[in-house]
Amino acid sequence: MNSKRTPLIAGNWKMHHGGASGVTLAGEIVALSRSVPHVELLVAPPFTVLAAIAHECDGSKVLLAAQNVHEKDKGAYTGEISAAMLVDSGCTWVILGHSERRQMFGDTDAWVARKTAAALEAGLSPIVCVGETLEEREQGKTLEVVLRQVAAVTEVLAKASLPVAIAYEPVWAIGTGKVAGPAEAEEVHAAIRAALAKVAPALAEKTRILYGGSLKPDNADALLACTNVDGGLIGGASLDASQFGAIARAAEGLAIRFPS
Ligand code: 13P
Repeated sequence: MNSKRTPLIAGNWKMHHGGASGVTLAGEIVALSRSVPHVELLVAPPFTVLAAIAHECDGSKVLLAAQNVHEKDKGAYTGEISAAMLVDSGCTWVILGHSERRQMFGDTDAWVARKTAAALEAGLSPIVCVGETLEEREQGKTLEVVLRQVAAVTEVLAKASLPVAIAYEPVWAIGTGKVAGPAEAEEVHAAIRAALAKVAPALAEKTRILYGGSLKPDNADALLACTNVDGGLIGGASLDASQFGAIARAAEGLAIRFPS
């Protein structure tokens, strides 16, 4: 954590809580947001419940994100959702290039870059996800893979006037209970920031680089304390308000310790 950037604690609900239970969970997160004044909180529920959760979060500081977007603004794209529609639903952020989309739904670096541009054009801040597989890590290709994924979006992000974030999510740590150690995470986060700085120093300064992958209350302190870790993108633990709240409070404690 670094005093220059407000920590961002984001919950990626994936394909969970797409109805009334999502509204209840959002309400609990709105309530806990009052106890973490130095931390930004964000929830990314399924499309079906975005508008209802926008209503639930209205007047609070809880930010609303979608989990994906289509690159075109409208047209014959059955089953897809445009950035303008997400804005209409009350979103201000969108998660892009999550490894589950890259692995299961064919999102490529180029496609993620086009989606990032479309999101920004419509007024949505992107959280661009990057990360290596276990095989790539074992082959010593972690930085090569991650920096290639980052390079694909750097030019687009550099032009943005909105806040932007990158989430480093090692694929082998997602939903597995295996977590990157603080030193492993910091190495990649620092490399991402250095790569951004080479192209656009101001972008490197402003970009929140989030860690994701089995982030839980019991490992949050150590990971969030890393200099280049500006928050978390949380899957499983974001489905439970008390666990999500515990991680947010860990960030709050660190933010107070390193005031701006
Ligand atoms: P878990 O926290 O369940 O490992 O998921 C991480 C993730 O994919 C967030 O986008």
